[in-house]
Amino acid sequence: MDVITDVHDMKAYVREIHAMGETLCLVPTMGYLHEGHLDLMRRGRTLADHVIISIFVNPTQFGPHEDLDTYPRDFARDEKLAESVGVECIFFPGVQEMYPQGYATYVNVEQITEGLCGAGRPGHFRGVATVCAKLFNICDPDCAVFGEKDYQQLAVIRRMVDDLNMRVQIIAHPTVREADGLAMSSRNKYLSPEQRRNATVLNRVLIQAQELVKAGEHDTAAIRQKTIELIRSTPEVVIDYVEIVHPETLACLDMIEDQAVMALAVKVGPTRLIDNMTLEA
Ligand code: PAJ
Repeated sequence: MDVITDVHDMKAYVREIHAMGETLCLVPTMGYLHEGHLDLMRRGRTLADHVIISIFVNPTQFGPHEDLDTYPRDFARDEKLAESVGVECIFFPGVQEMYPQGYATYVNVEQITEGLCGAGRPGHFRGVATVCAKLFNICDPDCAVFGEKDYQQLAVIRRMVDDLNMRVQIIAHPTVREADGLAMSSRNKYLSPEQRRNATVLNRVLIQAQELVKAGEHDTAAIRQKTIELIRSTPEVVIDYVEIVHPETLACLDMIEDQAVMALAVKVGPTRLIDNMTLEA
């Protein structure tokens, strides 16, 4: 396994791959890898000759009162897990390497960053778009895999790649869940056993919404109301947002005509969790 911390070394590594006429897939992560991340890497292996991942807890996407300092980190474990699914190289830069003294350039994707997580986390998607633009420039991948778990992030990255004419192809990968339906997340580690049980309400309300739509309920206000009721009946779970949006524009919908996405964010104790599912009329 190659571990590269230097931007110039990473660029040289990638240049060699391209010089051989081979393709490269990048899976950007913030580490503390779980089965969801590993599935993205397995997918990457089917898409290109080489898979590299980045591990970088990106400070510019965390708000001042968020969990940057306490975000879980375990590089030795991550390295073993990545190797077990055939990753050849980890780009593991330090903060100074990515944002050296004098750093001043940010990528701001408008409109689709305003609602959902963008409303409660100002500057978050500016940080995500900026770091992904940098990772794409450094690693020059043919494709990059992102999880549908972070639905708005995926939409923002697609928008940026389209708008800025980047050559990377963005591949979406379905959400990987625990046996009881909870979407895997590095932040699940923060949950106490009781909070962990309560957190399964996220998956339950999403399935309830899918069933309501299947049964003919297309009015989003009615579906949101039932969702909010079920979440409120669960101890320690506080709603940040419950929205039903257009799959591409992320605009809120009054009626579900063909496809929509229900997106949720809640706090379980101090831990913020998100999830989403496609609703099909
Ligand atoms: P991180 O939360 O580490 O997630 C890295 C990638 O794994 C993202 O594309 C995310 O959507 C995907 N992922 C996480 N949990 C998943 C699950 N249960 N099923 C499927 N995919 C899952 O997202 C980030 O890091 C950062 O914002 C990043 C894009 C790396 C930029 O800093």
